[in-house]
Amino acid sequence: MCGIVGYVGHRDVTELLLEGLRRLEYRGYDSAGIAVQHGAEISIRKKAGRVHELGKLVEANPVAGTAGIGHTRWATHGETTDINSHPHVGGNGEVVIVHNGVVENYTTLRAQLQQRGYVFRTATDTEVIAHLIAHQLSEQLKLGSDPERPDTYVTAVLAALAQCKGTYGLAILFRDAPNLLIGARLGSPLVVGVGQGEFFLASDPSPLVGYTDEVVYLSDHELVVLTPAGMELRHRDSGSLTPSIQTIEQTPADIELGDFEHYMLKEIFEQPTTLENAMRGRLDDDEATAKFGGLNMEPQQLRRIDRIVLTACGTSWHAALVGEYLLEEFARIPTEVEYASELRYRNPPLTDTTMIFAITQSGETADTLAAMRECKRKGHPTLAICNVVGSTIAREADGGIYLHAGPEIGVASTKAFTSQVTVLTMLALYLGRMRHLSYPAGHRIIQQLREIPQKVAQALESFETVRKIASKYASYDNFLYLGRLYNFPVALEGALKLKEISYIHAEGYPAAEMKHGPIALVDPNTPSVFIVPRGGIYPKVMSNLEEVRARGGPVIAVACEGDDEVADMADDVLFVPEVDEFLQPLVTVIPLQLLAYQIALLRGCNVDRPRNLAKSVTVE
Ligand code: M6R
Repeated sequence: MCGIVGYVGHRDVTELLLEGLRRLEYRGYDSAGIAVQHGAEISIRKKAGRVHELGKLVEANPVAGTAGIGHTRWATHGETTDINSHPHVGGNGEVVIVHNGVVENYTTLRAQLQQRGYVFRTATDTEVIAHLIAHQLSEQLKLGSDPERPDTYVTAVLAALAQCKGTYGLAILFRDAPNLLIGARLGSPLVVGVGQGEFFLASDPSPLVGYTDEVVYLSDHELVVLTPAGMELRHRDSGSLTPSIQTIEQTPADIELGDFEHYMLKEIFEQPTTLENAMRGRLDDDEATAKFGGLNMEPQQLRRIDRIVLTACGTSWHAALVGEYLLEEFARIPTEVEYASELRYRNPPLTDTTMIFAITQSGETADTLAAMRECKRKGHPTLAICNVVGSTIAREADGGIYLHAGPEIGVASTKAFTSQVTVLTMLALYLGRMRHLSYPAGHRIIQQLREIPQKVAQALESFETVRKIASKYASYDNFLYLGRLYNFPVALEGALKLKEISYIHAEGYPAAEMKHGPIALVDPNTPSVFIVPRGGIYPKVMSNLEEVRARGGPVIAVACEGDDEVADMADDVLFVPEVDEFLQPLVTVIPLQLLAYQIALLRGCNVDRPRNLAKSVTVE
């Protein structure tokens, strides 16, 4: 949450910062701001609202310079007003910062600083850091430190951060040290872009795309000193470090909308390709299994695993639920799915042979990271299924599997879900083939997986039908989503998609569980979305569907092509191609993603930037 961008070099920084903020806007869009340095002066422009509002402000009051910082905010402390927008100023303007994170002890620090005469202009926790750095800087200068030396500023920053409890990703400018940009990280991501005589700072690599493909990911307690002449990476305790420069593979096309109206729609339609990418090079026909390059565990170690814990949040948690069914069915390994926000504070009994998987698109979700760290601390092998290369979770896990889905920018997760389910299917195949799964069974799974991108492309053909159905139901205020077995997590996911982007109340339930309470909600104003493709449990779900019909509830069904029985019973049907039961989530979720998208559009909602949300939840 919150996006940070910074630059020092030879370019005019203003448009670079604004473009960086546009690319980071998915991380938070309550307000935006920039600070631009020109000589011993730092000009700030900031505004509540989206980056384009800030753009208008800057157009009316231009600023220019070759060093600057910018921020797009997801508010934690203080309302979304112009004054609370970042950047924030410390002392009498000698320090200017942008911050992603939370200062937990800010009330105590604020009171101490007020006693020392510092005047607070905002209701944010961040202003405390700005004043603390300014205070430490004045102490350094009183002690005779040289204001020309970057070390003076580094010492002040480290002394200030030592007093803060909580998390931060920071970019800092100093009025009296033009061309000096300091970044610091604890808990909130920060990446340095390395150019020729220029350096970038950002919460993720997207603002760097098109400028440089060389990056250095900061780890916790690291600080980076950037000037046009070079970079110095330091650890809070151990001093100078040698930066490990990595190459990013994003291209400008990856983060552009192309012909699509919204990122969510683009990402929904990318799924046939992203699923191909998730499987590429990982299906082994000779051995009838899957193979992964980065698990970093010996087959003997994997063979001994007798319990798996999958931990995640939101949509990734729904993918994990599908994973539970897959791992138990194919690998016969008892599997549990834990909310990361619960697991991080629980103390479940885990044995030496328990394997933990953190599942996350962003690789930065605070709860998932904390749950993973807690398990690692106890000595368990902790792996990640992650999309964003170089993210904190990807770097800290003992090993893992990348989704290769490309950047997911729409706040509502779509392509990450299907890629996660695909990777979990391959994982179940791999672990299953080490155990009881026969060669022919493994071979069949591979064949069926290979057909999936084409089946997903067919499911996307429901687009026009979905549009018509959406217009019929867009004004309803409550929905139920019902499915069983592999389609129960899909019901949860369909409901989540609808509520997060269209603000309609929706509940996902196992279809048969409905009788134990939610059926009381059924009436002519509460549509039920039944996920009822053919399979072993089909007649049972059909009975549940009848029960809803009998009580006058409208029914939208997701069913297999050519299923006339469902077509007769439901008010509306969305057809998907027939696939084996264990692969159904990959096709049944498609019309539900489209339905949520279309309904949100019809209700005039901002599909890619739903209210109160941010793409990557990096606070607790
Ligand atoms: O990046 P992660 O997969 O760890 O994110 C987890 C959730 O925050 C995320 O899936 C969220 O629920 C999405 N907005 C759902 O569309």
